[in-house]
Amino acid sequence: MKTLISASILSADFACLGDEINKAVSHGCDWIHFDVMDGHFVPNISYGVPVLKSVKKCTDKPFDVHLMISKPFDYIEAFANAGADIITFHVEAECDIAATIQRIKDLGVKAGLTLKPATPAEAVYPYLNDIDMVLVMTVEPGFGGQSFMTDMLEKIQSIRKKADEIGKDLDIEVDGGIDGNTAPLVKSAGANVLVSGSYLFKAKDIDSAIASLLA
Ligand code: DX5
Ligand code: ZN
Repeated sequence: MKTLISASILSADFACLGDEINKAVSHGCDWIHFDVMDGHFVPNISYGVPVLKSVKKCTDKPFDVHLMISKPFDYIEAFANAGADIITFHVEAECDIAATIQRIKDLGVKAGLTLKPATPAEAVYPYLNDIDMVLVMTVEPGFGGQSFMTDMLEKIQSIRKKADEIGKDLDIEVDGGIDGNTAPLVKSAGANVLVSGSYLFKAKDIDSAIASLLA
């Protein structure tokens, strides 16, 4: 599977967000990762629908929306209308998971399910046939710039094995602490979409940062 890079704009300079997105895209990033935090599901607040609507105009690349919010179902339509191409929500959220996946798909958007580090791989198995992507959190959700949790490699392997067993062509995305050292580990465990925030946006040389993720 080809490795894709989803640039997490949480680490971008918001004073010039459009330029930051254009930089990521012009240097070869495949998707834009858009982290939504409600100050309740995670202890931080980021940005939401109006910001997505604006930055959507910057690029034709897919917007990969990661909802770290307690009640995702209630906001699916707003994010779909604002231009989300993939909507990923947490299996730990307060919602009917199957109904939320269906809502995303009914709106013509790809559906992803994600899990916190303490949640076992098995939590997503009942839904694998119905979704396009599993996002394995490799840090506690809420903040950029944290250290990669090596324990999560086994979870990636388990989910890839399960997807292969059921013949599902599943994207497995990883999020948190991805850099030139951790990228080879997650790829060999079975991940094919790498979220990268601080490593890309704080890099002195973005081209070599991207090359190291793809190496
Ligand atoms: C954390 C977010 C991440 C974050 C990753 O809750 O979901 O997308 O931006 O940041 P880095 O790549 O700096 O670990
Ligand atoms: Zn994220």
